[in-house]
Amino acid sequence: MRLLFLGDIVGRPGRNAVIERLPGLRDRWRLDCVVINGENSAGGFGINEAICEEILAAGADAITLGNHSWDQRETLVFIERQPRLLRPANYPAGTPGRGANLIDTRSGHRVLVVNVMGRLYMDPLDDPFAAVDRELETCPMGQVADAVIIDVHAEATSEKEAMGHYFDGRASLVVGTHTHVPTADHRVLPGGTAYMSDAGMCGDYDSVLGMQKEESIRRFIQKTPGARMEPALGEGTLSGIAVETDDRTGLAVRVAALRLGPNLEETWPRFWD
Ligand SMILES: [Fe+2]
Ligand SMILES: [Fe+2]
Repeated sequence: MRLLFLGDIVGRPGRNAVIERLPGLRDRWRLDCVVINGENSAGGFGINEAICEEILAAGADAITLGNHSWDQRETLVFIERQPRLLRPANYPAGTPGRGANLIDTRSGHRVLVVNVMGRLYMDPLDDPFAAVDRELETCPMGQVADAVIIDVHAEATSEKEAMGHYFDGRASLVVGTHTHVPTADHRVLPGGTAYMSDAGMCGDYDSVLGMQKEESIRRFIQKTPGARMEPALGEGTLSGIAVETDDRTGLAVRVAALRLGPNLEETWPRFWD
């Protein structure tokens, strides 16, 4: 299978990059499954139903979230009727929505997508390792799921790497999100799981993490309240990871970084061209 994961969509530039480029990439590379983190897609803060539908229509099979899951209050309601929108699985019991789902892709495959949040330097939720373990037990790769994608929304690279190795051999891909900066450590781990510490963001990189740089710089220098943080509005770049898996086992065979757009050096999975 051919899997594509894209990091946090930040505001309109991130949405436009996805809407303009994803349909063409899906066709060109005959992608089987596309998962995108959408936690900053609504003006940098959360997601709403209209934007969720827009991203799905552009070619995402599932959308994951993170610490910004509930920035738009309507998400608490519409997530219940949108099985392709996932919030971290380690929220307390009773939290609206779901943290994992077996997604039927347009190509006819079944992909288990799991979203989980780290606990280092973040709002400490339940144990993320145990939360993902439970999802994998009920839906093992190669039996129920054709592939498994785990989005680890976390700050610390140590926690993300630990999770990559802990789930090595049980998932097609363990990929980090949240820092909005792509890392250069994409690889296939010894057990056959593709891994990348952070997928980067889909947004304007002439910014501080996708937000307008002036206000961000000011907040570091002057410790006084100022303007609202707004997304930077230059052209957006897509950033993420491409993975090819073995059809029988679901394990990764090849992996490549994807960066398409201005500001960063472009790269893409040349083995699919
Ligand atoms: Fe984010
Ligand atoms: Fe985040």
